[in-house]
Amino acid sequence: MRAALALVLLWHAAAATVVADFRKNGFVIVHSFATPEEVTAMKAAMKEKTDAYWAERSDPTVFRTDAGQEAAQARSRKFFESADRVEFFEEAEGAALIKAGHALHLGDDAFGRYATSQKVRTLLRDLGYERPVLPQSMYIFKQPSIGGEVSAHQDSTFLHTSPTPTCVGVWVALEDCTTANGCLWALPGSHGEPVSMRMLVDREEGGGPETGSIRFEGEYPDWLGDLSTKEKFVPLETKAGTAVLLHGENVHYLSLIHISEPT
Ligand code: FE2
Repeated sequence: MRAALALVLLWHAAAATVVADFRKNGFVIVHSFATPEEVTAMKAAMKEKTDAYWAERSDPTVFRTDAGQEAAQARSRKFFESADRVEFFEEAEGAALIKAGHALHLGDDAFGRYATSQKVRTLLRDLGYERPVLPQSMYIFKQPSIGGEVSAHQDSTFLHTSPTPTCVGVWVALEDCTTANGCLWALPGSHGEPVSMRMLVDREEGGGPETGSIRFEGEYPDWLGDLSTKEKFVPLETKAGTAVLLHGENVHYLSLIHISEPT
């Protein structure tokens, strides 16, 4: 009983640090959040899905995060249909995936179990969410030497609530992430900035869920493009199983994987 009480007290102390760091920096790393079994199960579940995708590949759809995003996703049937199912998106170069989404959490498998687990609920409650809603999930693939950088952005650009932006990203690393293989980089304290840009969906009148177009309103401030700003980003290097909480207004990006070709 005494050991159990000590453990509870320890958890509350750790949770208080997590919450304090999150509020201060706009992100926080939570070590050993997913168990090795959960990580293995999610990777195995995705292997099954990707094997099936490549075996029956049809209507290959490129997902872009660069200046061409508006045009590319506006024409994408899969993009609009992926809200409540799992669709696959490819790198511009083809023959490699960039992500699967956006409803892995609805699956009755390792993803659904993890996403709705008690520890995820407790984590969000610790952050002050009384009735958290899970609207979107995705699996990001970072292939060696393929694909570009996911440029600096705020997640509240894409998942926006009003009157108060309440989006929080709950990342979990399924492999060790380092500066050498494309880890997250975040700008500490940037969650004090307002949401600079919003993605809006224009539905076609009478059209189905697969029709519409997206556009962006506003723009990211010039200072984001400054190299001096980029030097203030910190790498979020993580071991497999580590979670990263990202405040919706935190500015972050995914670095390029730069692997030297053998000479
Ligand atoms: Fe993001």
